Amino acid sequence: MDKKAIIYTSYHHHNTVNLLKDATDEFEYDWYNLLRDKDVKIPLSNYQTIIFASGIYYGRMHKVMVNFLLNHKEELENKKVLAIITSGKGAKGYAKRVKSHFKNLNVSNIEVFSCLAFDTYGPLKLIGGVNKGRPNYDDVNNLKEFLNNHL
Ligand SMILES: Cc1cc2nc3c(=O)[nH]c(=O)nc-3n(C[C@H](O)[C@H](O)[C@H](O)COP(=O)(O)O)c2cc1C
Repeated sequence: MDKKAIIYTSYHHHNTVNLLKDATDEFEYDWYNLLRDKDVKIPLSNYQTIIFASGIYYGRMHKVMVNFLLNHKEELENKKVLAIITSGKGAKGYAKRVKSHFKNLNVSNIEVFSCLAFDTYGPLKLIGGVNKGRPNYDDVNNLKEFLNNHL
């Protein structure tokens, strides 16, 4: 059977990892939290399919994710790779940027799912944050559909 991994960076409200947990059958994947499992050597060659998932911080995926991708780009060749991002603004530009990020790493066959998510970073905290309740039920269903279409 095709072995699948989810490699993620998610810490602000755990929006990204919770969205994925709700939209997938958890046991179909091996899960790697890059921010926690810093010293774990991920056996990338074991996986045919890898989902990279990250919140957007300062306009980009987490720098730990960016570095991980840079250090392992050769190992991503010929794999099915998907990217999932969540952000406070949900800007179209983020998905575009992430797509070109992967293309620059020679991962040409890349699809990106972008989702609006709860954000209390900086001054937003003063107003109780934005996008409360996101990701929501519809977001989960949209991600399920995306995964059905692209896996
Ligand atoms: C340090 C920091 C920087 C952020 N920068 C942005 C940003 O540039 N654009 C944006 O839309 N959201 C930004 N956000 C909001 C996050 O993208 C959003 O809350 C995301 O869902 C966080 O994912 P997580 O809960 O999985 O960590 C930022 C949040 C934090 C904590």
